Amino acid sequence: MIKHPRGPFAAGDQVQLTDPKGRQHRLVLAPGRSFHTHRGALAHDDLIGRPEGSLVTSAGGTPYLAFRPLLADYSISMVRGAAVVYPKDAAQIVGLADIFPGARVVEAGAGSGALSCWLLRAVGEHGSVTSFERRSDFAEIAAANVEQYFGGPHPAWRLMVGELDAAGITGVDRVVLDMLAPWDHAAAAAAMLMPGGLVCCYVATVTQLARTVGVLREQGNFAEPAAWETLQRGWHVDGLAVRPEHRMVGHTGFLVTARRLADGVVAPPRRRRPSKGAEAAAAEAAGAEAAAAAVLVRGEHESSGRNGMEAEDREG
Ligand SMILES: C[S@@+](CC[C@H](N)C(=O)[O-])C[C@H]1O[C@@H](n2cnc3c(N)ncnc32)[C@H](O)[C@@H]1O
Repeated sequence: MIKHPRGPFAAGDQVQLTDPKGRQHRLVLAPGRSFHTHRGALAHDDLIGRPEGSLVTSAGGTPYLAFRPLLADYSISMVRGAAVVYPKDAAQIVGLADIFPGARVVEAGAGSGALSCWLLRAVGEHGSVTSFERRSDFAEIAAANVEQYFGGPHPAWRLMVGELDAAGITGVDRVVLDMLAPWDHAAAAAAMLMPGGLVCCYVATVTQLARTVGVLREQGNFAEPAAWETLQRGWHVDGLAVRPEHRMVGHTGFLVTARRLADGVVAPPRRRRPSKGAEAAAAEAAGAEAAAAAVLVRGEHESSGRNGMEAEDREG
């Protein structure tokens, strides 16, 4: 059974120490061991048995506040293979993709396992999360991160090393795709999802966003997709100096969600008339596609483009 650690610190707990400058360190408590900072050592035994939110002082006299890390803290400081889903997006996925206790979720790719932790926490022990990861080195990192977070194997998690494969998977409530080309798996998502289920795609670039929405629409077994992004701007609040922070978590990615229609249902045509600009752009895109096809027929090479490169970077 997974037990979320609470109460006084105990051996085996993860602890996050924050110094007066806001610098953070993470350690796992072990009796008799010491944590060494450039401000002197700190005995783990000084923490074991103390309540969360305690202040401990290193041998050099620096005070540290001690808490168990939040999942948001853990996920951005975890060992990484692939880039992780940022907490602001993970929170949106759990909330707006409606991941509920007991849900059956399929995820790809697992990457470093950050989103897997959020999904597992939301579905709980009576749900299921099946995560596909095609790179075995990333799968190993994901497995270690998820085990470390939950203090052991999570009973609701199944990690599959390989390409996302819908074979034999049906009756799923949610499919969450964080990968370079989610449109390649839109049909697999529809095959796995039960009517009313939801697919959620997290993509890094505008071109990926357009292609994902386009394919979900064309496929015909999803209701109209919703697409959005979030920008998170912290505020500096100090007396009369109340202003936005100079730095913010700006672009991370876009989210797309769409609900699975019942088999045989054709979504009613959208009532919104596309703007003139959209029509012109669609005609232009159709023309460009025809021109590109002609180029390919002549045997020239397709260019990969910069956006593709950037998205690859996130994968790696
Ligand atoms: C950006 S990372 C996912 C990060 C992950 N959500 C996290 O929070 O740690 C994308 C991952 O998808 C994997 N991937 C891409 N296409 C895949 C596919 N068709 N099947 C399985 N994994 C895939 C890549 O190997 C990569 O590890």
